[in-house]
Amino acid sequence: RSQPLVLGIESSCDETGVGIVRGLDLLANEVASSMDQHARFGGVVPEVASRAHLEAMVPTVQRALQTAEVTWDDLDAIAVTAGPGLAGALMVGVGAAKSYAQATGKPLYGVNHLRAHLAVDTLEHGEVEPGTLGLLVSGGHTSLLLIEDLAGKVTELGETIDDAAGEAYDKVARILGMPFPGGPHIDKAAQDGDAEYVNFPRGLTSGRDMQRHRYDYSFSGLKTAVARWVEAQRAEGRDIPINHVAASFQEAVCDVLTRKAILAAKEHGADTLMLGGGVVANSRLRALAWERAEAAGMRVRQPRPALCTDNGAMVAALGSHLVAADVAPSQLDFPADSSLS
Ligand code: KG4
Ligand code: ZN
Repeated sequence: RSQPLVLGIESSCDETGVGIVRGLDLLANEVASSMDQHARFGGVVPEVASRAHLEAMVPTVQRALQTAEVTWDDLDAIAVTAGPGLAGALMVGVGAAKSYAQATGKPLYGVNHLRAHLAVDTLEHGEVEPGTLGLLVSGGHTSLLLIEDLAGKVTELGETIDDAAGEAYDKVARILGMPFPGGPHIDKAAQDGDAEYVNFPRGLTSGRDMQRHRYDYSFSGLKTAVARWVEAQRAEGRDIPINHVAASFQEAVCDVLTRKAILAAKEHGADTLMLGGGVVANSRLRALAWERAEAAGMRVRQPRPALCTDNGAMVAALGSHLVAADVAPSQLDFPADSSLS
């Protein structure tokens, strides 16, 4: 049968994203961000995000259809992020998708945002081998996953026991006086920094902590260590070497992320490491994943940076897998679920 043509809608946070794929070919990926409206608050303001989604939704869908040069009639299915994310923001996307599905008679899939972060990589690197080790690193989640089937069984091996890695980047950026969201600013500052300037702690990597939390992560102690180090410098009247602190912090995060991912892959016989989520746009994480996977004789897959952060293509990609796997569409009364696991 021909490749399914799927439109995907993403609205879980500040990005209104609409993507269109045919099979695993990306035809359109339109993103409207409301980040400009949140930056001065130092975080995403839910009500502001919902309102921005409401305004951007229809125009963004129209732009995607135009870019892909397809009509509603051509589509085989619609997919939308059902969760996790901000409740009000999700509701705008889910409401829009249900309306489009109702009006066009097309089947609708309510999908998991985290699974979509991994599925997007198939648009660039093809189907996933069963038994692939997934490392998901976003603003709200940090997990190690054993992927049997993107449209089916995915087992969580471990996750962060406190902050997500992206959250740690954003909090440390704030300590260093950088704008929100701080991840990309730390990435940039770290390019001119010495990663060995401060030896920040690697959470849950030794002794009993490691025994009890072999595949789990912890980043809140690291964030506190950076805050204490910076405070101590200030107390002594010294300037903060921002580039060195950024590089040293980043090294601690990326070291632990990749070290445990490779360990879990080895211990589960996985020969491929697959990365997904906004933090995978990070240059050091990308480089270190390559380096360590290569040294371990593993293949590494990572989406190009623009596809790592939230977008509609990832939702369309997962929708395409669900259609191809003959998974039944969602009932039209499925809820937006802000805490979907
Ligand atoms: O996946 P995502 O776009 O949204 C969520 O689902 O959470 O991830 C957003 C997170 C933010 O914490 C942001 O600071 C981080 O990804 N991020 C980065 C970079 N680009 C985005 N962190 C480090 N380096 C980057 N280049
Ligand atoms: Zn995300």
